[in-house]
Amino acid sequence: MNDYSLMIHGGAGSLDNIKDAKVAVRYLEGIRTVLEHGRTILSAGGSALEAVEVSVGLLEDDPVFNAGCGSVLNEHGRVEMDAAIMNGADLRAGAVAAVSNITNPVHLARLIMAESEHVMLIGQGAMEFARQHGMPYAVDKYFHVPERIEQFQRARKGQQLALDHDSPDEQKYGTVGAVARDKAGHLAAATSTGGIVNKHVGRVGDSPIIGAGVFADDVSCAVSSTGYGEDFMRTVLAKTIADYIEFTHEDADKAVAYGMEYLVKKVNGRGGVIVIDSHGNCASGFTTKKMIHGWIERSGDTHCRF
Ligand code: GLY
Repeated sequence: MNDYSLMIHGGAGSLDNIKDAKVAVRYLEGIRTVLEHGRTILSAGGSALEAVEVSVGLLEDDPVFNAGCGSVLNEHGRVEMDAAIMNGADLRAGAVAAVSNITNPVHLARLIMAESEHVMLIGQGAMEFARQHGMPYAVDKYFHVPERIEQFQRARKGQQLALDHDSPDEQKYGTVGAVARDKAGHLAAATSTGGIVNKHVGRVGDSPIIGAGVFADDVSCAVSSTGYGEDFMRTVLAKTIADYIEFTHEDADKAVAYGMEYLVKKVNGRGGVIVIDSHGNCASGFTTKKMIHGWIERSGDTHCRF
């Protein structure tokens, strides 16, 4: 099969602000633009790994999404980001956690995968690795978009830990992610986030945890998760979905239904997933009211939803 598939998400939650038409257009434009970049790569025979890295990198560069420059602030008013990438052909993976001042954590995750013998580097060690390899660095100001500062101040005032998209006041933050199948039949997944507003310093969510926030294996599927990270870590949800496909040989749709049921049954979990199986079928599911996402299934049209 000489087709390619690509799915991306921009976070799950109540997203009540999307009732505002201007906001809706802005999200959909962001998602569509990234999908079209991904299409250019995959239709030219580029790898799934390249497609997911570029897609997530572009989402990190867009301040409306909670990743890269649009990351939410932690309890000290600083940005600490997590990201991971995984290659389904050989299960190689790279991940970073609690990094600051890195413009594109997903590129650092890819670098760790390619240039180190490790899967995950965190904090200072990850940032030192980035410096040694000449990765672009940005000052704090680059990450402090006014909307995030206001959001942080609201959360501080209310003494609340704002969950991933689900607090009624806080709708514009969430993880970003991408999954792809290339023309050669290889799968890849990547996820990136600033985490949760007003989170504890050093808190790491599911996004960089292989098997929770991200997973890819050519024999089953590629998965990227979004939502309340602790729920996805406790259920190892991305790997649970992949295992379901590997053991039952069902398709992405069935696997997502199983995964969402499992998430609710086990931990009453909040969030969603995007999945592409080894045949290029695209599926998504979420237990929140909405999830911003889009897809190109088997070289077909571009679809965007929330
Ligand atoms: N899902 C992103 C996080 O909990 O950090």
